[in-house]
Amino acid sequence: MSGNITFTMIKPDAVQDGHIGNILAHIIQAGFTIKAMKYTRLTPEQAGAFYAVHSERPFYGELVSFMSSGPIVAAVLEKNNAVEDFRKTIGATNPAQAEEGTIRKLYARSIGENAVHGSDSDENAAIEASFFFSHFERF
Ligand code: CMP
Repeated sequence: MSGNITFTMIKPDAVQDGHIGNILAHIIQAGFTIKAMKYTRLTPEQAGAFYAVHSERPFYGELVSFMSSGPIVAAVLEKNNAVEDFRKTIGATNPAQAEEGTIRKLYARSIGENAVHGSDSDENAAIEASFFFSHFERF
C-alpha cells in the first residue's frame, strides 16, 4: 500500500547505545515501509544546515554538536498519514513527557539526546528526505 512519507534519523545517542535494530523493528511493526536508508555521519556544517530552522534557539549549538558527534541512520518512511503517525510512534520531544511504549520513552536519554528525529510536516518531510537521498536511492 502506498502512502505519504516522513523522514527520520536514529540519532548518535541511540546508535551508540546499541538501539538501531530495536528502533527499526519498532518502526516496521508500527506499519511503516522503508523507502530509503543510510548509515552515515554528519559534519557540523551539514548538521547546522539540516537544523537551520532552529538557528536562533538557545540549544542550536548543542544540537549541531551532538548531531555531528557520531554516526546516525537516516531513512525515508512511507505510510498513510506518515508524519502524524510517526510523531505518535516516537512520542514527545522530551522523553520524560513521552507516552509509554513510544520510541523516545524506550530509548532516549534526554530532550537533547532524544534517540530519533521525525519530520513535523509533509513539506519538511520532502525537504529533509531530499537533504539525504536522491531519487536513485529511493525504492
Ligand atoms: P528533533 O525532533 O530532532 O528536532 C529539533 C531538536 O532539537 C529536537 O529533536 C531536540 O533533540 C532538540 N531540542 C529541542 N528542545 C531542546 C532543548 N530544550 N534542549 C536541547 N535540545 C533541544
